[in-house]
Amino acid sequence: MARYIALVPAAGSGSRFGAASPKQYLQLNGKPLMWHTLATLAAVSAIDEVAVVISPQDEWFDDFAWDLPKLRVCRVGGASRAESVGNGLAALGCDADDWVLVHDAARCCLSVAAVERLIATLSGHQVGGLLALPVPDTVKRADSEGHVGATVPRNGLWLAQTPQMFRAGVLEKALREQPADDITDEASAVERAGLKPLLVEGDAQNFKVTYPRDLALARAILAARAGQ
Ligand code: CTP
Ligand code: MG
Repeated sequence: MARYIALVPAAGSGSRFGAASPKQYLQLNGKPLMWHTLATLAAVSAIDEVAVVISPQDEWFDDFAWDLPKLRVCRVGGASRAESVGNGLAALGCDADDWVLVHDAARCCLSVAAVERLIATLSGHQVGGLLALPVPDTVKRADSEGHVGATVPRNGLWLAQTPQMFRAGVLEKALREQPADDITDEASAVERAGLKPLLVEGDAQNFKVTYPRDLALARAILAARAGQ
């Protein structure tokens, strides 16, 4: 039977955040930010294993007792997100039919319900797909001076999130055949291989912590959930 494996790239340095340690290790409500991410994935009953990909030079992971079920650590992070994911896939040794759910470590407000919706929607699908959000605002394209150059119809536009869920064989082949340089998510690699991932509606709380200003919102969302 196909297994469900969460693969969490966590080998980035968080340069836009600009803290002393990578953002995935910042303290958030008493735990490293990434603990919340990993705990949510581990709480999804369909998921068999949660594999976190860290840098071989990581200086922070071993300082914390993660104490989570299903957790596996792969110290094979690469120079780009795509490389970290590709290396992680190779280290895991999945069957081609296994489902892999790639999820950013920095999306720490992911909900169990969103992951369950993704899995339920895609389990009969040939290719796989991703959580994404229909663009809610009016979209402007800037000209070179920062004025509005055009208003872009938002009809049909979605913001890609993670998890992005594909059969291991499909994902491994797509990442191997597409150059990693300009690939920012797994779906792009799969699309370039000529396949059509399915868009599954996510939610706005599943944002990626990128800048220091994002922490207050993440803290409030997690605190509200803990208080429920
Ligand atoms: N990531 C990774 N390996 C890399 C680069 C990024 O595993 N070489 C991971 C990050 O740790 C993060 C996810 O990919 O969980 C999304 O990347 P991003 O939000 O861009 O994180 P960073 O690359 O760390 O941040 P920045 O781009 O600001 O440096
Ligand atoms: Mg990055």
